[in-house]
Amino acid sequence: MLKFMKKTIAVGLLVSILAFSLTGCNSVTTGKRIIRIAHGQSETHPDNLGLLAFEKYVESRLGDKYDVQIFPNELLGPSVKAIELVQTGAIDFAVCSTGNLETFDNVYQIFSIPYLFDSVEAYHKVMEDKELMSSIYKSTEAAGFESVTWFEAGTRNFYAKTPIKTPDDLKGKKIRVQQSPTNVRMMDLFGAAAAPMSFGEVYTAIQQGVIDGAENNELALTNNKHGEVAKYYSYNQHQMVPDLLIGNVKFLNSLPPEERKVFDEAAEEATKVERSQWDSQIKNAIYQAKSMGVKFIDTDIEPFKEKVLPLHKELLEKNKKLQPIYDKIQEINKQVKEEK
Ligand code: GCU
Repeated sequence: MLKFMKKTIAVGLLVSILAFSLTGCNSVTTGKRIIRIAHGQSETHPDNLGLLAFEKYVESRLGDKYDVQIFPNELLGPSVKAIELVQTGAIDFAVCSTGNLETFDNVYQIFSIPYLFDSVEAYHKVMEDKELMSSIYKSTEAAGFESVTWFEAGTRNFYAKTPIKTPDDLKGKKIRVQQSPTNVRMMDLFGAAAAPMSFGEVYTAIQQGVIDGAENNELALTNNKHGEVAKYYSYNQHQMVPDLLIGNVKFLNSLPPEERKVFDEAAEEATKVERSQWDSQIKNAIYQAKSMGVKFIDTDIEPFKEKVLPLHKELLEKNKKLQPIYDKIQEINKQVKEEK
């Protein structure tokens, strides 16, 4: 029933948004330009809190002109749909995982490479490397959107109805992945069957036994309630995949420089707030998940790593764009190790 209601609301919202976009009319009553931002997380998730900071920053400086509206919980549709809405300009921004951006530009395969980063510190250093990231962010410009900033999305691990302690435990299991060809291939190498689907479908799919488990950060257990239906979370640490705030290129380029500056600063502020929320929310999620009956399992990550390391070479050979980025990341991995 809830799902049906959510779908009905989503369709209604979408129809009215598309109607407004088509007529070029963004606000009937206030005369302000409405800025619509879609994402798939709940209102309390760090992504949403970051976006609220974005809204506050923009409206406190340009509030006479812009009204920022945030649509959480996949209200405007699952991630891939939201990306398409940004692409066409039906909405202005969306937060999405790089996993879902892969099919829009294959440069985003880089973040799906398992065990790419040697440490969280290295991952953060890469994401904060403005030169490296701005070329990646601009890669989808011709497709109508670009990334403006990143959000922390933790480390991805497996969780399932039964404990996964070694890669052998994945054999014959059906595991949900994002709609990303690289993630599907990664699951092949792990020896499981990949079930690509949108994030919002995962709870019911586990509950109904359509899949045996999924992979994500710990917030999925609590914010998305997956811990109610999957009671074993294994720290095999296969990926660190960021969320990105993407914006419609036409809209961004239409902004006068002083307004563009405000939007850019607002994006930076959003990242600051999102990241400052992250660690405490993860700690809290682990605590909460335990009280839901979820068991956290420490694993030896080496056997998991061994299974999927061939994917590095395979991807680098297939997608020539990746090599320079990959090399830079390895350099940063090394630097961080030496600094420790
Ligand atoms: C994380 C991430 C989301 C993504 C989701 C998924 O929760 O923050 O952006 O959609 O994983 O696995 O689909």
